[in-house]
Amino acid sequence: MEPLLTILSVFLCIFMPISSSSSSSSSSTTTTTTTTDTLLANQSLTDGQTLTSSDHTFQLGFFSPPKSKNRYLGIWFKNSNSTVVWIANRANPISDSSATLTFQSDGNLAIFNGTKTKTLVWSSNLTRRVENPVAQILWSGNFVLKNGVSGDSVWRSFDYPVDTILVGVNITRHKDLVSWKTPEDPSPGDYSFGFDGHRLTQLVIRNGSARRFRSGPWNGLRFSGLSYFWLNPIFKPDFSSGPLEGESVFRSIVLNQTGYLQRMTFNNQSRQWDVLYYVPQPGCDEYGYCGANGLCDMGKSPVCECLPGFTPKNWQEWGRMDWRGGCVRRTELENGERDRFWAIPKLKLPDVLDYWTSSDMSLDGCRRECLRNGSCVAYANSDISEGGKGCIMWFGDLMDIRLLDNDGVQQLYVKLASSDIDAITRSGKKNIPVVPIVVLSVGVLIAVLGIIGWWTIRRKRKKRKGDGNAEDDDLDLPLYDWTTIATATSNFSFTNKIGEGGFGPVYKGKLVEGQEIAVKRLSMDSGQGISEFKNEVSLISKLQHRNLVKLLGCCIHGHEKLLIYEYMPNESLDYFIHDKERSNSLAWNKRFDIIIGVARGLLYLHQDSRLRVIHRDLKTSNILLDKELNPKISDFGMARIFGGDQIEANTKRVVGTYGYMSPEYALDGTFSTKSDVFSFGVVMLEIISSKKNRGFSNSDEDRNLLGHAWTLWQEGKPMEIMDIALEESCIPSEVLKCIQVGLLCVQHLAKDRPSMSTVVSMLSTETVSLPQPILPGYFTESSIDIAREESHSENGVTVTLLSGR
Ligand SMILES: *[C@@H]1O[C@H](CO)[C@@H](O)[C@H](O)[C@H]1NC(C)=O
Ligand SMILES: *[C@@H]1O[C@H](CO)[C@@H](O)[C@H](O)[C@H]1NC(C)=O
Ligand SMILES: *[C@@H]1O[C@H](CO)[C@@H](O)[C@H](O)[C@H]1NC(C)=O
Ligand SMILES: *[C@@H]1O[C@H](CO)[C@@H](O)[C@H](O)[C@H]1NC(C)=O
Ligand SMILES: *[C@@H]1O[C@H](CO)[C@@H](O)[C@H](O)[C@H]1NC(C)=O
Ligand SMILES: *[C@@H]1O[C@H](CO)[C@@H](O)[C@H](O)[C@H]1NC(C)=O
Ligand SMILES: *[C@@H]1O[C@H](CO)[C@@H](O)[C@H](O)[C@H]1NC(C)=O
Ligand SMILES: *[C@@H]1O[C@H](CO)[C@@H](O)[C@H](O)[C@H]1NC(C)=O
Ligand SMILES: *[C@@H]1O[C@H](CO)[C@@H](O)[C@H](O)[C@H]1NC(C)=O
Repeated sequence: MEPLLTILSVFLCIFMPISSSSSSSSSSTTTTTTTTDTLLANQSLTDGQTLTSSDHTFQLGFFSPPKSKNRYLGIWFKNSNSTVVWIANRANPISDSSATLTFQSDGNLAIFNGTKTKTLVWSSNLTRRVENPVAQILWSGNFVLKNGVSGDSVWRSFDYPVDTILVGVNITRHKDLVSWKTPEDPSPGDYSFGFDGHRLTQLVIRNGSARRFRSGPWNGLRFSGLSYFWLNPIFKPDFSSGPLEGESVFRSIVLNQTGYLQRMTFNNQSRQWDVLYYVPQPGCDEYGYCGANGLCDMGKSPVCECLPGFTPKNWQEWGRMDWRGGCVRRTELENGERDRFWAIPKLKLPDVLDYWTSSDMSLDGCRRECLRNGSCVAYANSDISEGGKGCIMWFGDLMDIRLLDNDGVQQLYVKLASSDIDAITRSGKKNIPVVPIVVLSVGVLIAVLGIIGWWTIRRKRKKRKGDGNAEDDDLDLPLYDWTTIATATSNFSFTNKIGEGGFGPVYKGKLVEGQEIAVKRLSMDSGQGISEFKNEVSLISKLQHRNLVKLLGCCIHGHEKLLIYEYMPNESLDYFIHDKERSNSLAWNKRFDIIIGVARGLLYLHQDSRLRVIHRDLKTSNILLDKELNPKISDFGMARIFGGDQIEANTKRVVGTYGYMSPEYALDGTFSTKSDVFSFGVVMLEIISSKKNRGFSNSDEDRNLLGHAWTLWQEGKPMEIMDIALEESCIPSEVLKCIQVGLLCVQHLAKDRPSMSTVVSMLSTETVSLPQPILPGYFTESSIDIAREESHSENGVTVTLLSGR
């Protein structure tokens, strides 16, 4: 019991560090009032009478909960008397006002009801006789029975909490908090909070006998799963500053009727209790949120994944983000010296359901013991103090593990078959071999088109600006000096030329400061005036986002017009994922980052930039990768700017790339942000499958990638669309989510497709359930051909195909 008490007092220190501060200035002014805080041996308290603590904070007496006629002996806050903090007879209500609190002949406190025949309703039930008993309500809200001779308190209400712990209360192992049944009925409800009945101490909230939340095992310093209870900034004043001068702050912890443990503070102004924090928070706090052998991480989306070496037990459920089924091993343990351990840091350790522990075993001893014992699946230090000591070994499934990014200190070592360890090591490798760069992608070259396209679009708007003289000042984009660029590109030497497009050659260059640049030398006959060129360049330069290729500046020299871009050493995504060898080096986590990056870049164009820009030609070859393989959208060649409230436009000139064009755009020339969303969906499915939508062939069937993905989805095996090379590195839940979002993006009707902001939030935050996709707007090239002919004859719509390669 002793070590447990220590734990308890540590726990309470953490929760209630300033337990005595509110009393110090309070107890001297009771003489003028008639209220009393003490019940003497020859006195009794009848219904309607109260005891009040010396500082007038707490009151004890009989009360009825709202909407109830039953009477209970309770303690409440005098200033907020709906806040009942303790009840003597919660399970034995008295139906009339006949109750009396008094002393029994042996000195026990007791409640009797009835007028003629008195019935014992409640008693302090001490076995030893109490001499000269005195009962007192203390400033702290503790109601104590004292031996009037010795002055010792022999019974304390704090030892028998109901659903509330007040400042300074010691809870003990056998005294759980139990929620009220309903707001009208304080009898014990379904939820309880207290110590888990195990040797390894942890606190749990239960729903009946089922676990609802647990603090994680005591690690020698704290309960890891409750640490954010005080890490939360709102809690800081609790230990750093204490109550403000002249203001008494009461704190309590309440297990409410719906099973939440709330950390409360009393606001004397509003007379309300404010909830500072509560557990379980939605998500990882909820017991077993990710099922057996799952790992919960609030920083990830989706929050659940399997422990390394494990895979979802039921892929279908997992794909629907129903994680309760949990995970199973990829490879059974060999149960010998060949099994190895994989360390996962910063955890709330698994639940201690079936375990073994020793307080004096070293970590190494623990490892050896776990390896030797065929039932052991994981081990860890049981105590993190003194640099870590003790041993816990787990048997059976590992339940309720979560990552604690801020405060996680404990490592769990999970036993795995050596082949699984090898697989994890391989896929975890983040160093993708660096590919030597020969040419800049077609995408970059096409970006030149972008500039031209923007000119055309902006030419009309330009007139508004009028005053040509001011333009030099307006141009916040650096104007590079011709000599600088000539030097950087070795005088536009042939060896520096990295590409040639219809609009002129592209050179790689290096500025004297060392920065690498890509220089586009626009051909002389582009037909633009200098001021228009500057104007357009300036406009594009304002589109600044980490997922858009950055225009660094321009250079004007006579009739020469140069565009200077940041240099993208890793070419385009297209080149990466559609090349067998390179795609093997692009692990899932990187692909997922790329997907998110492209989504953010597109969201910026659609919504967050000052202009609403429709890209109109998003495809893998227009996504360039920087040194760290961060994606950058390039090529605004077809981009169109929408006015503030414009949501859709029509064009007579359908430009874009087959395979990425939405049906309404390809057929009717209608484009909107939703046509970009369609292209994004295609890009996403291409990233997952490493296949091209256009030119996709699936031996026996005449379908494109979208059609194939949709069929697999309907057949309940969506994961089969995934590139086999990703099998080891993938996080199935993430892949499934991407497939689903991808299919949502390519739905036939534009109105059904999510906006980019929805896409980004679906991808990057915890979404409990995604809508089910409906039929995608997929058709083969031949169907476009037909459509084109029809459109051609009816509306004179021309399809301009600009191939990406
Ligand atoms: C109750 O007992 C106290 C001393 O214990 C005494 O002073 C007081 O007079 C008694 N009151 C009654 C009503 O007997
Ligand atoms: C609140 O105060 C009123 C008036 O004193 C009293 O009748 C009632 O029992 C109190 N309610 C509670 C819940 O303590
Ligand atoms: C007194 O309490 C007993 C037991 O709780 C109950 O059966 C009885 O009805 C109560 N009598 C009154 C008058 O409330
Ligand atoms: C009083 O205590 C005894 C054992 O110490 C127990 O059996 C009994 O149920 C208790 N009675 C009440 C009313 O709590
Ligand atoms: C709580 O328990 C600890 C350990 O027994 C003791 O030192 C401390 O005084 C107790 N606190 C209160 C308020 O009873
Ligand atoms: C508590 O358990 C009951 C019965 O199993 C269940 O109906 C209820 O939803 C649970 N409550 C919570 C908050 O999980
Ligand atoms: C709370 O406010 C009441 C009146 O609004 C005041 O009488 C009382 O002293 C205050 N209590 C504390 C602890 O500040
Ligand atoms: C219980 O606490 C949670 C979290 O503070 C809150 O959302 C819920 O409404 C509370 N339930 C009741 C019945 O007060
Ligand atoms: C593993 O250790 C546990 C706890 O010490 C023990 O009960 C069990 O028999 C051991 N199993 C084997 C296979 O050694």
